[in-house]
Amino acid sequence: EVLTELAQQHGVQTTDEEFAKFLDEKDNIAFLRDDFILPKYIKCPDKDGRLTIVSEAHNIIYLNGHSLGVQPKTSKQHIIKDLDGWAKKGSLCRSEPGKIFPKEDERLSVSMAKLVGAFPDEVSIMNTLSVNLHLLMVSFYTPTQTRHKILIEKQAFPSDYYIVQSQIEQRGFKPEDSIIQLQPRENEDILRTADILDVIEKQGDSIALVLLPGIQYYTGQLFDMEVITKAAQAKGCMVGYDLAHAVGNVELKLHDWEVDFACWCNYKYINSGVGAVGSAFMHRKHENNERPKFIGWWGHNASTRLDMTNELDLSPGINGYRISYPNSLGLCVLRASLAIFDKTNMREIREKSILLTGYLEHLLLSKVSKYIEIITPKDPEQRGCQLTLKLKYTASEVYSKLMKRHVICDVRKPNAIRVGPVPLYTRFIDVYWFVNILQEVLQDFTKKIVL
Ligand SMILES: *Cc1c(COP(=O)(O)O)cnc(C)c1O
Ligand SMILES: *[C@@H]1O[C@H](CO)[C@@H](O)[C@H](O)[C@H]1NC(C)=O
Repeated sequence: EVLTELAQQHGVQTTDEEFAKFLDEKDNIAFLRDDFILPKYIKCPDKDGRLTIVSEAHNIIYLNGHSLGVQPKTSKQHIIKDLDGWAKKGSLCRSEPGKIFPKEDERLSVSMAKLVGAFPDEVSIMNTLSVNLHLLMVSFYTPTQTRHKILIEKQAFPSDYYIVQSQIEQRGFKPEDSIIQLQPRENEDILRTADILDVIEKQGDSIALVLLPGIQYYTGQLFDMEVITKAAQAKGCMVGYDLAHAVGNVELKLHDWEVDFACWCNYKYINSGVGAVGSAFMHRKHENNERPKFIGWWGHNASTRLDMTNELDLSPGINGYRISYPNSLGLCVLRASLAIFDKTNMREIREKSILLTGYLEHLLLSKVSKYIEIITPKDPEQRGCQLTLKLKYTASEVYSKLMKRHVICDVRKPNAIRVGPVPLYTRFIDVYWFVNILQEVLQDFTKKIVL
């Protein structure tokens, strides 16, 4: 409706190229695209359909930021500066002001905390998502004979699934007895909040931990974290979230929602490169908890860490969960990326995102609804920027053709593609071109089948 109204005001149709240009002109954060390097190389299918030939193209439509964000332009400068300092000064590089040692990770927590609605001392920059999940489960999964279950979704990301299984086994329980799996109703793709609450209501007394994604990686469904957290805690369960697909994508209020803990990776919407250093959140209410935890020297109060007394002065809160010296080069890229987020805020990003994904959805429904089904929820409050399209044709074949036309998104076997117009660097015109290309590709398929 908003789109139709805007188009009418401007005297164009929502499906006109003119309209995409108009939306780009009135985009308040369009300037941020200049802070990123957009990919220029694409793998094209050879005559057998294998994606091998690498060619350079200047008009790539990158819609894969949900899988790997693009590179902030200043990353290289930060890394070179860091390497130069090390080369010239050796160990002395560590004591320079503004350098990694000893508090750079704590400095970056300030910007990161804003993205998740937390206080800086509730967020720590460390390890990777899966490692952080293990570390936090050491504290927050404390099963007893009567309360040993973990509630997860059946389609949980494989890493989360393995982590849960191994943690359960580690405590002497059996995954088959201790995992409760949520799944959508028959012929539905999306979990209903009411169904999740129902399981919590009925089985909550036996559940030690509710572990869900903020946004489901496959369907793009955004969970109602506030409501789920409240219901689960009322039943005495701990609540943790995997925010891999939610952070930098939607507004989060982890502190106000009273979430117990969360962890996320920073290479998707946070654009900090393959295998980037990850992050974790623990609510202030657990600041001085005496739960079991694994401890290393980086959890020691930074001011006296180097006194080397072996008398632990553990940092309160999540900072006490840090184990090792953070990777300096990793932090360089994260610093470059968070500086871009600092120029805006999640409310502004989300506002564009709702319009941009709404525009994508509108064009898909107008132009290719014959060939696809969008399984992501229609309600903007129940999704982030990504839409998942179920195709009538083999997704990898469609994707080969899309790649040939310089589109990068991703395929989930057997017949889905995920399309993520990331608002920080995606233009409305990119979305417009993408849908036109998809329409041509899908029409080609239809013709072939008729012949
Ligand atoms: C990407 C992703 C991960 C990745 O975990 P790493 O430890 O960073 O490799 C985990 N969980 C979800 C839901 C993801 O989407
Ligand atoms: C760390 O130690 C210093 C010096 O003893 C102290 O002033 C500071 O409050 C401590 N920090 C934390 C977070 O406990």
